[in-house]
Amino acid sequence: MEKIRIAVLVSGGGTNLQALIDAQNSGIIQSGQIVRVISDRPGVRALTRAQNAGIGAKVINKKALGSQEAFEAALQKELADCGAGLIVLAGFLAILSADFTRQWDHRIINIHPALIPSFCGKGMYGLYPHIAALEKGVKVTGATVHFVNEIPDGGEIIDQKAVYVEEGDTPEILQRRVMEQAEWIILPRAVEKVSAGMLKNGRDKQEIS
Ligand code: GRF
Repeated sequence: MEKIRIAVLVSGGGTNLQALIDAQNSGIIQSGQIVRVISDRPGVRALTRAQNAGIGAKVINKKALGSQEAFEAALQKELADCGAGLIVLAGFLAILSADFTRQWDHRIINIHPALIPSFCGKGMYGLYPHIAALEKGVKVTGATVHFVNEIPDGGEIIDQKAVYVEEGDTPEILQRRVMEQAEWIILPRAVEKVSAGMLKNGRDKQEIS
């Protein structure tokens, strides 16, 4: 069966990457295959998770490369080398230029730890959306999977899942609940949905090397 070749971009712990690996092994993801994990920095746990799963991993060190252009040129080369047709940002913190996202229109998806349009946009990553949700006193937050375009967290929404805020929640407790009850469920589901759609629409042709 043909599958969409998926590159997962990471920057940290890789729990969303792990959810994708587990979903691939359990059959939740059937229309795509993770062929490469790319980190924008060395020494992160996501790289160990890739290694343990036997998936090729590469560090493209944005800081060492020194410019957005050099970083994106190296990224495009790696993506071409592995024949990726779909990019998944899983805890990925580097910014991608409008030029880059235009070249991958509707072929980059991202997981955001809030219900967009709440608590999103520039600077809203990691714990910050959860800090903002607690400060606002919302009773419900959650996670969103969306296509990536030139506006931070501005692309078309693919899926969302709500999570209750509970009495006494700290940002760390809330982050963990949102990951467990939302992110790790909707990201694999969205990857399967988008991959199956790409196969159906024949957008996989250029992916199979
Ligand atoms: C999580 O808060 C996730 O919502 C965001 O990045 C953080 C770390 O994710 N996208 P991971 O454990 O590296 O997948």
